[in-house]
Amino acid sequence: MIPRRILYGGLVVVVGVLVMVAACGSESETPADVALGETIYVEGTDAEGTQITRTTEAGILSQTGCFACHGTDAQGRSIDTKVGQFDTPDIRWSVISQPFPNDEGGTDPAYDPAGFAKAVREGIDSGGGQLDPVMPRWEMTDPEVNAVIAYLQTL
Ligand code: HEC
Repeated sequence: MIPRRILYGGLVVVVGVLVMVAACGSESETPADVALGETIYVEGTDAEGTQITRTTEAGILSQTGCFACHGTDAQGRSIDTKVGQFDTPDIRWSVISQPFPNDEGGTDPAYDPAGFAKAVREGIDSGGGQLDPVMPRWEMTDPEVNAVIAYLQTL
């Protein structure tokens, strides 16, 4: 039998640690995440200023952040390159977090954070299709993906 005093003492410590972890988690969420999301969106770099690894077929355009292709407002645009023109979709969270119109005149299912992570990391869209290889595949952590979502929520 563990003496009661020790058992209760241990419980208090465990609960205390849990409360601290929860408090830290919620503190580091909102403002910091948006700032990191903006850095990734504009610069394509992580919190340390290191370029996030990505694979793409877009050449020089892929060496910056998302804005180079999706635009500073994230509403998508048409880009003329030496090898032809390509269009990028609107990726504002208010738009893609509910069913949204696609290029083919149909509707694509809404993105949730997990689906968005899949698109960014693996190039699989919300309907399960492969995205064009011009869209880079980014090696992003969960906090980085969530930071980009937080930033896209502000646009
Ligand atoms: C080099 C240009 C380029 C860059 C840089 C780029 N994208 Fe894209 N992205 C595209 C293109 C082109 C598509 C459309 C691909 C398709 O329709 O097959 C796309 C599609 C997407 C989609 C899928 C939207 C949909 O309609 O299903 C998401 C999400 C996305 N991009 C997020 C991002 C994020 C986040 C970043 C930055 C971390 C980023 N992209 C950077 C070119 C780019």
